[in-house]
Amino acid sequence: MVKKIKVNRLRPGMYIHDLNCSWMDHPFYGSSLKVKNDGIIEKIIRFGIREVYIDTDKGLDVAEDADTEQSTGEKADKLHTHEEQQNDAGDDSINFDDIRTVTVGEEILKAKAIREEAILTVQKVMNDIKSGNKINKDNVIHTVDDMLVSILRNKNALAGLGMLRKADDYLYNHSINVCTLMVSFGKFLGFDPQLLREIGIGSLLHDIGTMKISSDILNKKTPLSEEEYGEIKKHVQYGRKILEETEGITETSIITAYHHHERLDGSGYPNCLKGDKISYAGQAIAIIDVYDALTTKKCYRRKIPPTQALEMIYEWSSTQFNRELVQKFIRCIGIYPVGSLVRLKSGLVGVVVDHSEENLLQPVVRVIYNKRAERYISVPYDIDLSLEIEKESGERIAGYELPEELNILTEMYL
Ligand SMILES: [Fe+2]
Ligand SMILES: [Fe+2]
Repeated sequence: MVKKIKVNRLRPGMYIHDLNCSWMDHPFYGSSLKVKNDGIIEKIIRFGIREVYIDTDKGLDVAEDADTEQSTGEKADKLHTHEEQQNDAGDDSINFDDIRTVTVGEEILKAKAIREEAILTVQKVMNDIKSGNKINKDNVIHTVDDMLVSILRNKNALAGLGMLRKADDYLYNHSINVCTLMVSFGKFLGFDPQLLREIGIGSLLHDIGTMKISSDILNKKTPLSEEEYGEIKKHVQYGRKILEETEGITETSIITAYHHHERLDGSGYPNCLKGDKISYAGQAIAIIDVYDALTTKKCYRRKIPPTQALEMIYEWSSTQFNRELVQKFIRCIGIYPVGSLVRLKSGLVGVVVDHSEENLLQPVVRVIYNKRAERYISVPYDIDLSLEIEKESGERIAGYELPEELNILTEMYL
């Protein structure tokens, strides 16, 4: 007999008939397996799986009070149908207490799959808008939930992947990066999971109104006329209309998106709102939207290193941004965000893999290249710059390096 049970009821000796999640969401070979030890249970929990189906004919049973369901062939098939995913999407069934934090290395492969899936979702949403169709909000919620769970397991994995961006698919990557950073920042600020989901949805779709603007204006290589710039600015109102017309999108999601170009001093658009007239989420997304735009390579300029972008935003916070929020954002992502490629004083080059709030200037760096010797390190190793021994040796970050110039795929080292 097949029974559905919560993962915390799993015991060695049970036989898992189905892991109750898509194969992309777990690292196990196949969906059926014998639970040989506690390590497997821990792994299943760590990968965010909340419920599984066990087969009591092939392994141990649970106590009678378990939530059971009779097995049918269709049941197992249905688990992975799109319909089921849609029905699950957006419900409150995610048990956030079950989510355990993991290292960036443990999360990175899952984060990569989630990011690829998110790109497909955003592409689909944009194509739907372009062709006059409605947004499939269940897909959006499902994507945001996957991103949210990944961030709760490790806040740096998805964000670290966001450091690698190409200029050509800017809008997809920008939407996902803003969503990732916004959810991480919301978590840092202590928002509850439901609120994180709502601001995540608003962030993922914050520039969706751009799809209503003529591609002649969007792709124009010469300077825009005042009229054309006015049309570009309308993407905020277009976006609001699209979100309002999408059933099930909450006011919080709509306002998060609607306020992303407002500025504290009233110099923003569309409503020139000032100070607290701008929602808290709106004040936060404004910082993140600009941060991501600055740190992304655009066809007309090189990308700006994160530290320099943060300095610029901090400077502008005297007028345009909430300074307290900017300071918190810097504490959240670090002065050298995870995924950045940095050069140390000794000439070694490495990827930032971790940092603590107390040591923003001294992150943990995974050394992968020796710039002076111009050779790659065969076995990368970590240097924790916050350790006394490193401080005494005078080792510190000397600057940023561009991964493209050294031909380094930073995500491989996270
Ligand atoms: Fe925008
Ligand atoms: Fe944006």
